[in-house]
Amino acid sequence: MKIAAVPGRPLSGAVSLPGDKSISHRAALFAALAGGESQIDNFLVAGVTKVMLEALSELGINWSLRGTRLEVKGIGMQGNKLVDPVMLNCGNSGTTMRLLAGAIATLGISAVLDGSPGLRSRPMKRIVDPLRAMGVSIEASPQNGAPLRIGARSPGRKLKPLDYDLPIASAQVKTCLLLAALGANGQTVLREPGPSRDHTERMLQAMKVDLTRSSGETDPEHFEVRLSPPESRELEPLLIDIPGDFSSAAFLIVAALITPGSRIRIQGVGLNPTRTGLLDALQSMGAGIMISNRRDSQGEPVGDLEIKYQPLLGTQISGSLLVRMIDEIPVFAVAAAHARGRSIVSQAGELRHKESDRISDLCQELRRLGVKVEEKSDGFIIEGGRHVHGGIIDPHGDHRLGMALVVAGLAAQETVIVQNSEIIDESFPEFREVLVSLGGEVHIG
Ligand code: S3P
Repeated sequence: MKIAAVPGRPLSGAVSLPGDKSISHRAALFAALAGGESQIDNFLVAGVTKVMLEALSELGINWSLRGTRLEVKGIGMQGNKLVDPVMLNCGNSGTTMRLLAGAIATLGISAVLDGSPGLRSRPMKRIVDPLRAMGVSIEASPQNGAPLRIGARSPGRKLKPLDYDLPIASAQVKTCLLLAALGANGQTVLREPGPSRDHTERMLQAMKVDLTRSSGETDPEHFEVRLSPPESRELEPLLIDIPGDFSSAAFLIVAALITPGSRIRIQGVGLNPTRTGLLDALQSMGAGIMISNRRDSQGEPVGDLEIKYQPLLGTQISGSLLVRMIDEIPVFAVAAAHARGRSIVSQAGELRHKESDRISDLCQELRRLGVKVEEKSDGFIIEGGRHVHGGIIDPHGDHRLGMALVVAGLAAQETVIVQNSEIIDESFPEFREVLVSLGGEVHIG
């Protein structure tokens, strides 16, 4: 499938967005481990979350999905109530694989976790090593990727608690280890070098798990989580309404900022500070984004955003700010291409391990549109403010690259055609529909 983004039309109007991808993954899986029935509203129904639900079915978990309401019958943390799966297919979803590995470890059952060729090439040593240190029997491929083979644990044997410094700030690794820690015989302590997203901590606390953390309030360089396993107590079921996905909102925010005459409102979007680095980056570029109606939705901050077209200036992204906008770098690069002056992204080597190599593939596709971009080993430099041309580009099997390039087309000189655009359905199947509802000219063809 191809999508054509035709420039020239301003965006206007108000939208609400599908549920957050990270929270949807966690809600489905954690609900399966709870002692009772959970009710989850505004669940993201997309490629990557369907893969998680199918894996839960393989394990023998009962769930039902009506529209975007997901109900899950939790089995508690008892592996003996589950089907011993032959193979769990994680599709193209790193989150599904890394989170499931932690849950399988805590349940003590055996499983093989596999996925697409793209997923097989993503790094798994980052979970294999610490899981082994906890006593999990786990093997990766010779390239340290999927398939992952996890061995069963004898009944009644617990995992060892972990005291561990994560070498990279990664919410997937942190979540995998916190899930495994639920099955350990003592307190686990994890320290991270940066503020990776904290939805797991918030959700486990809502499920009454004994979890404490220091998230940079007292020491901006110190991110630590402590979890004590619940012994005999079950996790409480969830009753939640998932906020709109900030990472999906990011495409609309940048589209409105760079398309002359635009003014849009995005309602009920998740504003967890570990996710909203892009807002800080755009504000430092001169964007005036209004936030109103701030509220709390079961431990997650939510609000409405109002964005209007505004000329932007270049900026620099690294450190904690980069961690807080790790999924938004492709669309940030589009904003930077339209901004006057130089933008620099550094300390971003992790981007090479996402759904695509989000440094080299992004630079390559932006160059096709006439953007002046220099690739660095850990980031890139964009000289913005030149005309962005039209062209035919490829998302390299990466949903976020695909959407960022459609956004680039809305404010380009000529039409941008994104080939193989069906990959967008992995996280935001309504993307085109939402842009069209805001007045954007985006065709399928
Ligand atoms: C995610 C964490 C991030 C992010 C991914 C979703 C999560 O990955 O890029 O889209 O839901 O925990 P890392 O943990 O690898 O940084």
